[in-house]
Amino acid sequence: PAARAHVIAVVERLRALPGALLPILHGIQDGLGHVPAAAVPIVAQALNLSRAEVHGVISFYHHFRSEAPGRHVLQLCRAEACQAMGARELERHLHDRLGIGFHETTADGTLTLEPVYCLGNCACAPSAMLDGDVHGRLGVEAIDRLLATCEA
Ligand code: FES
Repeated sequence: PAARAHVIAVVERLRALPGALLPILHGIQDGLGHVPAAAVPIVAQALNLSRAEVHGVISFYHHFRSEAPGRHVLQLCRAEACQAMGARELERHLHDRLGIGFHETTADGTLTLEPVYCLGNCACAPSAMLDGDVHGRLGVEAIDRLLATCEA
């Protein structure tokens, strides 16, 4: 199907690069929202790696997800500056309110919650990124406003 065609196109475009594995995985996830299990053997074969090696890289980097995400992705910063400014409270609030933990998606498929480790927005901690847009100085109310934009 289309997903397989995307994987093959990305692999063909990038396989000759030195260190092609990471660019290929990024390319796959950029197009599909995740790196499906079926992509692993295709990538492994093209780069002459074992499936275990490819899988190891996917699970090592928090950035890559193996499951399709919800319609929206909220990434909450868990690095030091944000933790010092109250990110843990936001974390608790999100878990309570959404009923999911990190790397999980709400039952209705609206939102996936993920941790990130610094968004480069430490000066405006605590920070989070919703669908690629960074938001800073977040409190519980501001997070709720962001969530409301997803439910609309
Ligand atoms: Fe959160 Fe840098 S520590 S943005």
